[in-house]
Amino acid sequence: MGAGKIGSAIASRLVQKNVFPAKDVLVTGRCEEKLEKLRALGIEIGRDNKTAAEESDVVVISVKPKDVAGLCTNLGDACADSSKLVISVAAGIKISAIAGLLQKPDGRIIRAMPNIGVLVGEGFTALAPGTDCLNRDDALVAAKIFCNLGTCGFYDERMINPLTGISGSMPAYLAAFAGVIISTAIRHGIRRNEGRTIAGQNMVAMGKLLLETDYSVRDMIRFVGTKGGTTHAGKELAKKLGLFSAFRQTIERAIERAYELGHEDYGK
Ligand SMILES: NC(=O)c1ccc[n+]([C@@H]2O[C@H](COP(=O)([O-])OP(=O)(O)OC[C@H]3O[C@@H](n4cnc5c(N)ncnc54)[C@H](OP(=O)(O)O)[C@@H]3O)[C@@H](O)[C@H]2O)c1
Repeated sequence: MGAGKIGSAIASRLVQKNVFPAKDVLVTGRCEEKLEKLRALGIEIGRDNKTAAEESDVVVISVKPKDVAGLCTNLGDACADSSKLVISVAAGIKISAIAGLLQKPDGRIIRAMPNIGVLVGEGFTALAPGTDCLNRDDALVAAKIFCNLGTCGFYDERMINPLTGISGSMPAYLAAFAGVIISTAIRHGIRRNEGRTIAGQNMVAMGKLLLETDYSVRDMIRFVGTKGGTTHAGKELAKKLGLFSAFRQTIERAIERAYELGHEDYGK
C-alpha cells in the first residue's frame, strides 16, 4: 500500500530477484507515473486499497506516517481477521497504534524499519514482530521479504525508533558526505563521474572493512592517518569544527523525530 520510494523499491526488487512471482505482488498507489514503472515489471496494480488487502495474505503499509490513519480508515476491517499479516514500515508508529486503526487485535503486525539500500539489495531492515507473530511463520515471511533485500534482524519494538535514526535515515547522511566528496573532487578538476566512483568505492571499501574484518574503527582511522600527514590535518580541523559531534547530534535528532512521529496524530 503506497507506491512511493520505499514501497516501489521493495516491490520491484522482490520481483526482479524472483523472490515472488510478479503476479503475486499487488501494489496500490495514487500516482499513475510511479505505478506505471511497476506495471512494466509485471506487478499487479490496484487502485482500491480495501480490495487489494482483501485479496492479499500479507499487507505492507508504506505510506508516509501522516497518511497512515487515512489509509487504515480506507482499509476498514479488511485486515482485521487473523488470516492476514500486516507489515508497517511507517516511521514512529507503534504496533499498538496500527492494531487500533486496523481493528486488528490479533497481534499479527510486524513493524519494520528498512532503508533505501533495499533498492540495490543492500538494505538493512530492523523487524519487530507483534505478539502473535511468534507463534506463526510470520517472522519467516518477513525475513523472506527483507533478507532478500539486504540484511535484516529482529529487535524488540523499543529499538525501532533508535534504529530509524541510526539506519533508516543513514543513507541520506552518507549520500550527503558523498556529495561533499564529489563536489570537492570537481573543484579540483576531477570529472563528476570519477568523483562518484571515488566516493562510491570508498564507501564500499569501508563497508567491507566493517562487515568482513575484525578491525576496529580506531584501527581503520589509524591505517590512514599518521601524525603530521594529510588525513591527520583534516581530522584535526574536523574536530575543531565540531563535525563529529554535529553528526552525532544529527542522528540523535532523527531518533527524537521518530518518537515525535509516534505521538503525532498520523493523519487521524
Ligand atoms: N524512504 C525511505 O528511505 C524510508 C525508509 C524506511 C521507512 N520509510 C517509511 O516508509 C513510508 C513511505 O516513505 P516513502 O519515503 O516511500 O514516502 P513516499 O515516497 O511519499 O511514498 C508514499 C506513497 O504513498 C502514497 N499514498 C499515500 N496515501 C495513500 C493511500 N491512501 N493509498 C495509496 N497510496 C497512498 C503516496 O502517494 P502520493 O505520491 O500521491 O502522495 C506516495 O506515493 C514512510 O512511512 C516512511 O517513514 C521510508
